[in-house]
Amino acid sequence: MSKLTILFLTAALFTVESCGQTGGSPQNASRQSTASAQADSCDDPDAPIGCCFVNMPERLTHIMAIADSAEKGTRIIIRGQLLKADGKTPYPGVILYAYQTDNNGYYSKNGRETGIQRWHGRLHGWCRTGADGEYEIHTIRPARYPSNTIPAHIHAAVKEPGGDMYYLNDYVFADDELINERYLSRLRNPGDNGVITLQPNAEGILEGQRITPLVQKTPARRY
Ligand SMILES: [Fe+2]
Repeated sequence: MSKLTILFLTAALFTVESCGQTGGSPQNASRQSTASAQADSCDDPDAPIGCCFVNMPERLTHIMAIADSAEKGTRIIIRGQLLKADGKTPYPGVILYAYQTDNNGYYSKNGRETGIQRWHGRLHGWCRTGADGEYEIHTIRPARYPSNTIPAHIHAAVKEPGGDMYYLNDYVFADDELINERYLSRLRNPGDNGVITLQPNAEGILEGQRITPLVQKTPARRY
């Protein structure tokens, strides 16, 4: 066998093995890529709002626990109520989703997130409003992004019993000096402005309230 033949056979063998390691032909690679995209089409920071509700537990109560007691940060409780568009009638059965930064201003991950939570991070949760439209969020106070130019906030989206989904104005905090006329003038969503005043309750935990009429029927973008 000539040296040239040996060189050719070696090159051919290497090529076959390489294809095996990389998953086969370009067509196969393309199919796998498509399959992955189909498997988790919510793994996208700009995924449709419906992705916010894909990973939620089957059974929800009116209490959303975003952060457990081990989470670093100042503990807060937000007691809220969702109302129908008339601004008076309590709205039961609405699913609320929320997600937030950690005590350092990051949407930190635990590595087990899937779908849109790969972008929203581990500090997220869901609840369903009770008979009086009420809910509670038990969490820590989020920190501003490290850039320090946007008020600390908790993002939130709702899904009505009929299926309408949209974002609410963020939860923000009245004692944040970045909450000012400029911030309020730039709010995109109708309803309430999301500004929460925190005060210590009997146990010394900071607590705030929010009442939100659900007056919008279009999925305004998160911001
Ligand atoms: Fe944010």
